[in-house]
Amino acid sequence: MIIRPRRLRQNETIRNMIAETAVNSASLVYPMFVVEGEGVKEEIPSMPGQFRFSIDELLKEVATFSEIGLKSVLLFGIPDHKDEMASAAYDDDGVVQRAVRALKANFPDLYVITDVCLCEYMSHGHCGVIKDNDVDNDPTLELLAKTALSHAVAGADMVAPSDMMDGRVAAIREKLDEAGFTNTPIMAYSAKYASAFYGPFRDAADSAPHFGNRKTYQMDVRNSREALHEVELDIEEGADIVMVKPGLAFLDVLRQTAEISNVPVAVYNVSGEYAMVKAAAQNGWIDENAIIRESLIAFKRAGADIIITYHAKEALEKGLVG
Ligand code: PBG
Repeated sequence: MIIRPRRLRQNETIRNMIAETAVNSASLVYPMFVVEGEGVKEEIPSMPGQFRFSIDELLKEVATFSEIGLKSVLLFGIPDHKDEMASAAYDDDGVVQRAVRALKANFPDLYVITDVCLCEYMSHGHCGVIKDNDVDNDPTLELLAKTALSHAVAGADMVAPSDMMDGRVAAIREKLDEAGFTNTPIMAYSAKYASAFYGPFRDAADSAPHFGNRKTYQMDVRNSREALHEVELDIEEGADIVMVKPGLAFLDVLRQTAEISNVPVAVYNVSGEYAMVKAAAQNGWIDENAIIRESLIAFKRAGADIIITYHAKEALEKGLVG
């Protein structure tokens, strides 16, 4: 036998020398949930280790990040008031807008990304305005654009539309540019699937649709060519970064996206993926740290530049990246 691949696996030094992939701590983004009130730090039952924070508690939590090298957060707002027009989503005094102001005032170097969607703010839990029992695309665009602008005005470093309406990247770009926010990047949730893996998030954000489902706007899990179409459209409309979501069950889509994209690619390691790891770990059925490390590497190997993950903080604390 002349060719023996095991020669290069004999010890850690040679294995490290030829390792193709490393996860850069700078590429991790930590999603966080912010609620109204004071002194609130409420654990999300289906996402052990993740919390809903009021702004004062959010600031306390974020104060620990510089020490571990966590540099970026993705913010989700959970308002007290929901209605048919998602008016709290684009209220300058809304919970996310106030959280962004507080974060940027206290931690100017923290890179604050905001999720732009209406589902948490709509009384019916859908991601846009309802007409004839379905989300009406074009009137929704104006509300999304207003929401993104209010985030930028509050000081968000980047906005991330997750609604999956057609044409929303262009609508948001135009609105931001008109107001002078030409340098605010858009990270588009481009290939976002109608996935069961968002279940725990919807508990956390109280955003499950009250009727029907999201299949008329989020993508059919059976398709990957369609994902590339969505990615291309978002890039044409001006997306600075494109995203694939969920992550682990869609690594093939991530790989294909990384191959065709000429802008950076993000992946979202979503709530259901996190919940499964935590549940198995709590039962002692898996080696949690090894699973987290392996998952993060898988995203990188498949082509992700940015990894949005609820594991970000613990991965840095426990030294699972690098
Ligand atoms: C809002 C939004 C969702 C997620 C991110 N933005 C929920 C959904 O589309 O129903 C899911 C994130 C996760 O599961 O961690 N539209």
